[in-house]
Amino acid sequence: MLRSAHDARVVDVDGREYADFVLGMGPILLGHSRPEILDRVQTRMRQGALYGTTEQEFELAETLCRVLPHAETVAFSNTGSEATHLALRLARAGTGRRLIVKFEGHYHGWIDPLFANTQMNDATRTADFPVPGQHSVRGQASSADVIVIRWNDVDELRQVFSDHRGEIAGVIVEPIPMNFGTLMPDAEFAAELRSITARDGARLIFDEVLSGFRLALGGAAEILGVSPDLAVYAKAIANGFPLAAVAGTLEAMDPIINGPMLPAGTYSGNPISVEASLAALDILQNDRTEMYPRLDHLGSRLAQQIRAIADETGAPLSVNQIGSVLQMFWGVDKTIRAYADADTSDRATMSRLSEGLLDKGSLVSGRGLILLSAMHTEADIDALAAALRDGVDEITKEN
Ligand SMILES: Cc1ncc(COP(=O)(O)O)c(C=O)c1O
Repeated sequence: MLRSAHDARVVDVDGREYADFVLGMGPILLGHSRPEILDRVQTRMRQGALYGTTEQEFELAETLCRVLPHAETVAFSNTGSEATHLALRLARAGTGRRLIVKFEGHYHGWIDPLFANTQMNDATRTADFPVPGQHSVRGQASSADVIVIRWNDVDELRQVFSDHRGEIAGVIVEPIPMNFGTLMPDAEFAAELRSITARDGARLIFDEVLSGFRLALGGAAEILGVSPDLAVYAKAIANGFPLAAVAGTLEAMDPIINGPMLPAGTYSGNPISVEASLAALDILQNDRTEMYPRLDHLGSRLAQQIRAIADETGAPLSVNQIGSVLQMFWGVDKTIRAYADADTSDRATMSRLSEGLLDKGSLVSGRGLILLSAMHTEADIDALAAALRDGVDEITKEN
């Protein structure tokens, strides 16, 4: 059990410190307890917790429209799940259509309409009968209005648009998927996502809850050079404080601008989270030219070390890395292009390997996802690689 956190470290109730590669499931891109953020938040808190729309909310909206190339206006909420829900509603309200297309393995939060075919479902299933979002369901989701198709498959994408011409309100994607593989989409597929949705009049929705600000200031959209109609941000946007945003073109956001939609939410755009986000964005804008290359350097260093462990031990360990995000796999011997490829991995062994790292001073999520922050050092990376090496040796001996 954990008690506190600072820099790239978490401290447990017995006072033991661990290098933190979970980072609150992603938000802590800048490191824990950054004084530049906490000082501003403390000052803001003394002025009241919640009292209606503030000028800071407008300042944050303007900042986001400046740093996100595709954003013309934004709406705030508190969590990624709420914000993806808001994006779906905007797509439906704006197009007057019902259907949503999502992709196998992409995670968009826990709301029913999108909680289908993701790695999370097994862990969160509560019943032995098909519950909304059952892991194995492909082709249908909890809502008959959501169609699930294969990632990186241009033919399947074209087929769904040909079967449902003029009926699809939006296509939601993790543009650089990080909830099953951490992989770039094929360039042709990314381009087709944009052109087929534009031709058909459907909204292209980027779920950048994890990738936003983490992979680049402009997120995956900047890296891919693809402009979505709507994009959802959370996590790193406020470095640990609950804030999410839907950013979009004026056309896609019109149901909010001119009605009839109301993006309701008691705590949406609350002054505390907004202040934290303004402070985090100040740091990101100041540090971007140094920070993103440094994170990529640390990420590649760790990926190389993990690959060397696999080569030297013959263990079936592999890793995908993009910038500060690494996904390890156990028992996958092919290039991962879609969820079905990643789904062949031995998750039980990966979870054992990750758990074993705790004794050696590193906290890594059981699914083998490693997240880096601006506060990690080469020494943290090398210590994690050494711990992984020991862990792999132990597992190979036991098997
Ligand atoms: C890509 C993506 N979308 C949506 C969500 C849901 O966000 P939240 O947990 O804030 O509801 C997550 C959370 O991990 C995510 O990674």
